[in-house]
Amino acid sequence: MDVPTIFDPYPAGPDIEVLPSYFPIPGYGLLPVNAFVLKSREPVLVDTGLWALSDEFMKNLSSVIDPDDLRWLWLTHNDQDHIGSLHRMLEAAPRLKVVTTYLGLGKMSLFRPLPLNRVHLLNPGQSIDVGGRRLTSVRPPTYDAPETTGLYDHKTSTFFSADCFGALMSEPAGGAEDIGSSRLKDGMVFWTRVDSPWLHTIDRDGFAKTISYFYGLSPGTILSSHLPAAHGMADELLQYIALVPDEVPFVGPDQKAFAAMMG
Ligand SMILES: [Fe+2]
Ligand SMILES: [Fe+2]
Repeated sequence: MDVPTIFDPYPAGPDIEVLPSYFPIPGYGLLPVNAFVLKSREPVLVDTGLWALSDEFMKNLSSVIDPDDLRWLWLTHNDQDHIGSLHRMLEAAPRLKVVTTYLGLGKMSLFRPLPLNRVHLLNPGQSIDVGGRRLTSVRPPTYDAPETTGLYDHKTSTFFSADCFGALMSEPAGGAEDIGSSRLKDGMVFWTRVDSPWLHTIDRDGFAKTISYFYGLSPGTILSSHLPAAHGMADELLQYIALVPDEVPFVGPDQKAFAAMMG
């Protein structure tokens, strides 16, 4: 697979759908890029996929829910792999409000501003009610953009973790458990070194406290933007993340190595 590819949606719970795609990273593997739909009474879309696959994304979304029914779009952060169909969604779902932070709103305004009457600012620790269902904003343990907020769905004990718990993969998989422990560990440590290079510089005790908070939260399901759905795997995934501060920092190919890769 050497071009971005979209796959059919699949369920990650009785009322949660994954909208999966994969983005090839030459020389390294495949990065899953997921968006999610929560079929709560006020339905929620989490992120909007890749711009290059926007037509396919809108088709897949329509196969699991009428976009017009969506009431919330939770934007985990503003990276391009999360906002591919953002403005299309604002048109397709007139009642949709974008959940973001002040920083997320500000960063969007540098390029294509969000209409202010379509945003709902929510900071980590704060919650919204999406029709008798509480979603709490939680900053994940690793991230690559300061506006990042994950979300915890109290009803299903699901943590939507944004870029955290992502993994480089060699081939698509139906679930994180299908990857195999050692490949999953290697792929996750690699991705996390790339995505959160600041991890190598942080206070280890402080990071251990962050990790232990998530052991305490103990989400039954983890839905990362960059990993197939992970059920009952929180402890294993946290173990892998905890390794990263002591790993060698990632350095990408320089021009000579890049020229060799490109042949
Ligand atoms: Fe990101
Ligand atoms: Fe991402």
